[in-house]
Amino acid sequence: RQTDNQLIIDAGQKQFGATTCGSCGMLYSTDSPEDNFQHTQFHQRFLDTIKFVGWKKERVVAEFWDGKIILVLPDDPKYATKKAEDVRRIADSELGFQQITLSSPSSAKTYLFINSDKMVVGCLVAENIRQAFRVLEQQEKPKDMNKEDFMEHHRAWCCSTVSEKAICGVSRIWVFSLMRRKGIATRLLDTVRTTFMYGSHLTKEEIAFSDPTPEGKLFATKYCET
Ligand code: ACO
Ligand code: ZN
Repeated sequence: RQTDNQLIIDAGQKQFGATTCGSCGMLYSTDSPEDNFQHTQFHQRFLDTIKFVGWKKERVVAEFWDGKIILVLPDDPKYATKKAEDVRRIADSELGFQQITLSSPSSAKTYLFINSDKMVVGCLVAENIRQAFRVLEQQEKPKDMNKEDFMEHHRAWCCSTVSEKAICGVSRIWVFSLMRRKGIATRLLDTVRTTFMYGSHLTKEEIAFSDPTPEGKLFATKYCET
């Protein structure tokens, strides 16, 4: 009987051993049936969503050795706007956004980074704006606060009250977790600056990030100073 109990305890502790799926990037415990179920549910849906079969008409706005960036506009064919929306949903759920409506859907431009394996690994939504509020210095996370609470509170007081002129608002920027730190977000933004407004190259100051996450801020701070 004592060995039985021992086995149960071991099984319970094993659940803490977490694994990251090498294809979908989900972090889960292979020993937990619940986690396995959730992973199975997520895995195929995620991979189907980011799969890019190629379109008859693609608005390619940048090309690289490891992929390309295509631009999707609100009046594009349904297959294109649907893909943009599906990928945007993935980004939203990762960002913890509740509603999926855009502030001005009719002007939203969606930039998708497609890698050489035909997967959408990056997404940026840019909208026309007239003014923005500069993001203030990153505050330290208090020790007794968890990441979710901090992010929730942080959003409310991260911006200054002085409005500044901006032309392009980035309401979402997302890169597939297994493809980060390869300059994909940087290349998406560089491409926005040259293609957002016809015939003009936007400066970094003319771009504003709305509601940045702590990770988004680290990226934006680095991007804006370089
Ligand atoms: N921590 C510290 N610095 C970072 C981080 C990070 N997590 N991410 C980027 N940087 C800085 C680095 O200096 C990096 O250069 P380096 O890799 O040479 O050190 C530089 O920014 C450029 O990074 P990229 O490779 O271009 O950025 P990446 O493609 O990894 O995408 C992003 C960054 C979009 C923030 C990604 O981590 C992500 O999708 N995160 C989850 C979603 C999210 O939080 N998005 C931002 C929301 S805010 C908004 O949407 C307005
Ligand atoms: Zn997976």
